[in-house]
Order: sequence, then structure tokens, then C-alpha cells
Amino acid sequence: MAGRGKWKSSFGFVLAAAGSAVGLGNIWRFPYVTGKNGGALFLLVYLVAVVLLGLSVMYAELSLGRYTQRNPVGAFNAIKPGSIWRGVGFLGVITGVGILSYYSVIAGWTLYYMFTSAAGKFGEGITQAQVDRIFSSFTSSPFLTVLLLFVFILITSYVVSKGISSGIERWTGILMPLLFVILVFLSIYSLTLPGASRGLKFYLSPDFSKLNFNIILQAIGQAFFSLSLGMGAMITYGSYLSKEENLFAAGIEVVTFDTLVAFLAGIVIFPAVFTFNLSPSEGPSLIFKTLPFIFSKLPLGRIFGTLFFILLAIAALTSTISLVEVATSYLVDERKVRRPKAAFLVGAAAFVIGIPSALATSVKPFTNFVLGKDFLSFMDFIWANLSLPIGGLLLSIFVGYVWGARKAAKEIRGYRQGKFPGEDIWIFLIKYLVPVALLLILGSILI
Ligand code: TRP
Repeated sequence: MAGRGKWKSSFGFVLAAAGSAVGLGNIWRFPYVTGKNGGALFLLVYLVAVVLLGLSVMYAELSLGRYTQRNPVGAFNAIKPGSIWRGVGFLGVITGVGILSYYSVIAGWTLYYMFTSAAGKFGEGITQAQVDRIFSSFTSSPFLTVLLLFVFILITSYVVSKGISSGIERWTGILMPLLFVILVFLSIYSLTLPGASRGLKFYLSPDFSKLNFNIILQAIGQAFFSLSLGMGAMITYGSYLSKEENLFAAGIEVVTFDTLVAFLAGIVIFPAVFTFNLSPSEGPSLIFKTLPFIFSKLPLGRIFGTLFFILLAIAALTSTISLVEVATSYLVDERKVRRPKAAFLVGAAAFVIGIPSALATSVKPFTNFVLGKDFLSFMDFIWANLSLPIGGLLLSIFVGYVWGARKAAKEIRGYRQGKFPGEDIWIFLIKYLVPVALLLILGSILI
């Protein structure tokens, strides 16, 4: 299809895909979900899920996207025209808006912490009570949380309205590596803290007797969330990729970088959690109650803290861009809406749906919505733990059997001669292991 836009270079694509993958999922969600699920054992199950399920589904999405050169709905429809399979693409579009709605709330929190750090509030000698007060006085303000949600979505829609390569590629190139460098630096510092050994024991020494279905479900949900899988984001990004690019290498690069960032976030957070007597099972507020202590102790902590939250907000932005992009490309390709209008429509929908999540820390009934969860946690459960694995399950069946794993493998090879490394293993994984594992896990929650 002409005129849809393309990445300027293969490196630009890897950066944009990594930009989609690396975000709050790695730095906010991964540490708190790991903490809640007992630490090291969760990390191990997570890594297995990333390698066996995540990487396989990544290739399935990228190949489907590049082969069809379409948005998720169009991609399923191109291979099986007029069939119910396009519904899977549509589920992805909806899921993207669902995730965007609460993800942007947390992104709004990072904006607030950026200003708070810049204002010098995380000064030396800060106490637990002060850190708690900063968090609760902000999150109990409906006005501020909704306003920052609005601001963040507005920025995202603006960038997406500008189109694919000029909008997305430009941002990611310098800033992602910088975030990585800061994380490396912070993790080295964290390792010198007095609680480091206890933190590392919690994070790296697994207790296998704790293994259960819930940990596996959470780990799979986290893997899909962190890698931006299960809703067609990587189908969409793959669709802007030209036939010359090496999909095999791109997939490994994105998955490795994303996993490294999440792992490092854990190395930063857990030593600090045990040093400052916080609880690893604190939940979604974990990093917001841990990082201020780190910055308060660092020389130039005010500058570091501010820079860190700026970069985190930008990492979140390159992720929300991909969430908006999926629904936007659907509206542009299938409904012939002009791109700027489509991008702002998607943003408006996510803002409205996001309001209850922004109120989840302040206004009843959203503070305790259902199943003992606040509205934001409830949304997170529905979209990340249920919808993404369901999307991954259906996608693996589609690519494995309807399109055909052999044809997909050919697309991954590109113009290169011979099989790509691990091709037969990938075919086995996408046809058998991925669907069976996801079916078992999803079935187990129903029972
Ligand atoms: N992966 C991103 C993160 O870790 C979030 C994200 C962006 C996402 N696009 C997605 C999650 C698509 C699932 C599906 O922060």
C-alpha cells in the first residue's frame, strides 16, 4: 500500500519497536508485580515466558504485519477475507484503547514526580512520612490526576497525528539509550546500599515451593505487556517495515533490550526496598515510594531524579504512541479517516475511559471497585492479564494454522536463503507450545 509511511531505516524500526516495548511496563509494572509475587521465582517464570512465548509471538506479529502491510484488522482480513478472524484484530484495537486509558494515568504520575523532583522535594534526609505524604496528597487529588491524564494523552495524539517516521522515529533514537545508561548508573548505586544483599536474595534466589498458577498467569501477562504483544502493536509496526529488513535479528534485539531494562529496574528497586524498610508487595505505588529515597541520597540527586522522571515519561510516551497508533492505523486504513483526526479521536476515547482510572486513588466507588481492586488495577487485570494472553492465543492459532507457520517462517527469512536460526523450534513453539500453554493458563482462571 502506498502512502502509509515507512521507517527510514532498519535501526529506526528497532528503536521504535523497542520504544514501544520499553516503558512503564518495565520500570513501574515489572518491579511491583515481581514484588507482589514473591520476587525471584516470579523473575524466573517471567524469563521463561519471555523466551518461549514472548519471542515466538513477537515473530508471529512482525511477520504477519510485514507480509500484509496492514493494521491488525486488515492483516487478518487480508489472509482470510471476510472471516471472523478480523475480530481478533478488532479485539486488539479495543485492547489498545483500554490499556492506553489507565497507562496514561500512571504516565501522568511520572509527570508529577518530574516536577516534584525538580522542585527539590526529594531532599536529603527525607523521611518515610514525607515520601508517603507526597504520594498520597497528589494521588488523592482528582483534579491533578485527571488533568495530567489529559495532558499526557494530548501529547501522544499530537505526535501520532504527525505520522509515522517523522513522529515516532525522531524521539526514540537518543533518549532510550540515555534512559538505559541512567538505569545502569542507578543500579550500581543501589548495589552499594546496606540492604543490597537482602534485596538481591529476594530478587534472585527463588523458592520453588511457591510456584502456582497465579504466578504463571501474572508472568505471562507481564511478558505480553512488557513486550507490547497480544494486541497487534507489533503487527502494526511490522507493517511499516520493508522486505529487506532482517526480522529475525530485529525480534531478538527488541526482546533482549526490553528484558534487560526490566531486569535492571529490579536491581535498582529491590536493594532500596530493603534498605529503606519498604514492603516489596506495596503494589502500583512501589517505585513512587522507593525512588525518592534513592534520589535523596545521591549527590546531585535533584538533577538525577528530574532527569530520570523526564526519561521515564518519554519512555511512557513512546509506548503510548504505539497504543494510539494501532487504533489510528485501523481508522486510517479501514475507515478512511484522515490521520490527524483519527489520532485525536482515539485519544479522546481513551481519555474518557481513563477518567475512572485517574479517580481510582481518590473517588469512591473507583477506589474499591470489584474483587477488592481499585478501578485502575481492575482495568489492568482485564486488559493485561486476560485480553493480551487471549489475543496471543488466537494469534498463534491463526499464524500457526490458518495462515500457516511455514508461510510465516518464509516471511521471517525475507529474501535470505535457507532457514533462519531456530526456524523449526519456532514452528513448534507457535503451533503447539504457545497455544497449549496459553489455553491451560487461561482455562485455569475460569476454574
Ligand atoms: N510495552 C509497553 C510497556 O512496557 C506498554 C505497551 C505499549 C503495550 N504498547 C503495548 C502493552 C501494546 C501491550 C500491548 O510499557
